[in-house]
Order: sequence, then structure tokens, then C-alpha cells
Amino acid sequence: MKKSRIVGVGHFVPDQVITNEYLSGIMNTNNEWIVERTGIEERRWFTPGKDTVTSMSLAASNLAIKRAGISAKDIDFIVFATITPDYFVPGNGVLLQRELGIQGVPALDVRNACSGFIYALSVADQFIKTGMYKTVLVVGAEIQSSALDKSDEGRSSAVIFADGAGAAILKAVEENQHGILSTHLHADGDFAEELYLKDPGSSREVRLSPEIVDQPSFKMFMNGNTVFKHAVVRFHEVIQEALAANSLDQSAIDLLVPHQANLRISNYIQQKMGLPDEKVFNNIMKLGNTTAATIPIALSEAWEQGKLKEGDLICLAAFGSGFTWASALLNW
Ligand code: COA
Repeated sequence: MKKSRIVGVGHFVPDQVITNEYLSGIMNTNNEWIVERTGIEERRWFTPGKDTVTSMSLAASNLAIKRAGISAKDIDFIVFATITPDYFVPGNGVLLQRELGIQGVPALDVRNACSGFIYALSVADQFIKTGMYKTVLVVGAEIQSSALDKSDEGRSSAVIFADGAGAAILKAVEENQHGILSTHLHADGDFAEELYLKDPGSSREVRLSPEIVDQPSFKMFMNGNTVFKHAVVRFHEVIQEALAANSLDQSAIDLLVPHQANLRISNYIQQKMGLPDEKVFNNIMKLGNTTAATIPIALSEAWEQGKLKEGDLICLAAFGSGFTWASALLNW
């Protein structure tokens, strides 16, 4: 059986920097509160008319393709994780495929929110392991800022979520080479409404009307407290599951790349696992929580900073809306 290996990573973030000071000017919040509760100092929001999920994912993908030393024509499958596609339908995978000029190549969209990238990575990994595809582009990209409630009511999530895109190229390698060791996926729909965006939903006569646009259901809702409590348990659980599946101890991890949900959540996991600072990658301070894009952006930044060395044991872990949670263990 084949194994899959990440051979190139890339990312793109929009150039509009949104500081905590700026947010304090449009809603009742302040820098101290945001930094203390989330660790976020600034984040990027897209510029309407300039950035799209497609344009950002194209930039991230082109960088990953270049760094992988391949050409777009080598890609034989696209797995695109996003909950904020440019169109309601079709999904964003086909829009990226068109821009890459690789018409005919299959494109699959994954809608698993903050766990989306690891779900997408797992899908790509299974297709590579079975020999169906050899080179897969896995993308996580989001524009969250247009779905945020930027009034006082929405402030607890408006300060957290942000925009950006990341991409990874997976290649089939022999089983004895470095690559993905395992992926672990979970979901619990009992908590679907704890972090969700209800509208425009399809199960009503009219999907969208001026009345619906004015409803809270048209903006992202998050029960921050419940999300926090579940996140800290599930993150830890799914990391331990990945280690146990590979008979490895947590001391073997060279770098933990957690989904950038909230710095307090990452710090909590780090403490619980007794990991030193240099073994946990965080960039939420500058980029906020970009949902499915956080992990590939983090991988790309970590690679640029020389933190991903050949053979290193890397652990990816995520938790988010659904609830869904997931992990992946790989040798870089
Ligand atoms: N600025 C200032 N005050 C704010 C605020 C903001 N942006 N958002 C909420 N508050 C206020 C609340 O209204 C509340 O005021 P009150 O005590 O007068 O009622 C107070 O701060 C505490 O609110 P609470 O929601 O209990 O805060 P918290 O300590 O739970 O922190 C989160 C809120 C969102 C930061 C926290 O719940 C959290 O980190 N949750 C997880 C979020 C997450 O990771 N999401 C991504 C999942 S992928």
C-alpha cells in the first residue's frame, strides 16, 4: 500500500489588517479583553471586490505547487475545505480547479468547519493509500468576516474569526517513507447549534428575504463557553488517540500544530501535555481563527520558519462546529 506525504505547503492572507483597536471603535470591546480571552492582537479581513475564497486559495495553491516542485497539471484530485464558498453552489473546488487550468480533474468540497482541513487531508490520504490518486491538492480557505455580527451582540465571535487560505500538496510515496501515519475523525451532532450559522437555510419556503437578513440567524452564533469546555477535552482526546494508534508517547512529538481556535485553548492543551513552547505552533495572535484555513496556514508559516524538518513527528489537531474534531500524525 502507498503512503501520502506533504511535499509542499503555501498560504495567502488578505492585506487588510484588523486590529483590536479598530474593533473597539465599531463594537463595545477592548484590546485587553480580546487579548486576555483569545490571545488575538490582530487578524486579516478580506477586501470586497478584491479577495474571494477562490482568489485566496489560488494564491495559496500556487505557492504550495511551486514549493512542491510540481506543476498544476500533475494534480489529479482537489479536496477543498471551506464553509464559506464563493457560491452557494457549486462548491469552491471547481472554481479553484478552473483557475488552475486543470479542467477534468475531480474536485471535492468538505464542509467540516474548523476540522475541515484534517477531514480533507484524511480523504486525500485514503485516496492515495488505495492507489486511486498520486498527487492531491488539499485546501482550506475561508472568508468569515462577511458572516460576523459586528454589533455588540456578536462581539464574542466577531473578535475571533478571520479570513485566509492555506494549501498542501500530498504525494503518493512508498510505505517505508516519511508521510502521514494516521488520521482520526469524530463528530457529535448533538451540539450542532452551539456554533452555527443557520441562514440562508433551505428548509423554508423562501431562503432569503430582507427580514431574514435582519435576523440573528443570518450571523454566526457561538456559545463560547460550551465550545471552550468541549474543545479542551476533545483536542486532548484526539491527540492521545493518534499517539496510541501509532504506539507513540507524547514526548515523541516534535511539533503540535493545533487548529487556531483560541490561544487559551492551545495553551491549555500544551500545559496538559507538558509540551515546551517550541513544540507548539501558534499564529492566532496575528491571524485570528480562519476556520478550515488555520492548519494549512500554520504549516506554511512553520515551514517558512524552518520548524518542519525532514522526519519530524508532527501532530495536527482540530475542533469546531458540528461539533467535529480530528487529528493527524505524520512524519514530515
Ligand atoms: N469584548 C468585551 N466583552 C465581551 C466580549 C468582547 N468581545 N465578548 C463578550 N464579552 C463580555 C460578555 O458580554 C460578558 O459580560 P457580562 O459578564 O457582563 O455578561 C463577559 O464578557 C464574559 O463573557 P463570557 O462569554 O462568559 O466570556 P468567556 O470568558 O467565556 O469568553 C470566549 C468568551 C468566546 C472568548 C470564550 O468563551 C472562548 O474562548 N470560547 C471558545 C471560542 C472558540 O474557541 N471558538 C472557536 C471554536 S473553533
